[in-house]
Amino acid sequence: MSDIKIKITDRDGVTHEVDAPTDMNMNLMEVVRSYELAPEGTIGICGGMAMCASCQCYVQSDHQLPEKSDDEDAMLAEAFNVEDNSRLGCQIHMTPDLDGLVVELAPES
Ligand code: FES
Repeated sequence: MSDIKIKITDRDGVTHEVDAPTDMNMNLMEVVRSYELAPEGTIGICGGMAMCASCQCYVQSDHQLPEKSDDEDAMLAEAFNVEDNSRLGCQIHMTPDLDGLVVELAPES
């Protein structure tokens, strides 16, 4: 058993509590896609390369996340609707210490 629980609020304001595996090398964008919490084609457009910001989310819990890479920083500098707690979902990998993570998907830009 290596699943963690994550709360994800979709772009319609509906919160979903989902199980995310930590042993499949998945990132948050892929978790959102696997549960179909955002329509196909509106998230993960660049395939998780930190090049599109379609996976932007707001981190609402106070989990210690890995530092942003330069690519993520640069992408968020250009994206719309960016807040202090914005991250790119594709750059957040599912690890056991993220159990209880709470995020909200940023609006489609
Ligand atoms: S999927 Fe494109 S930046 Fe995350």
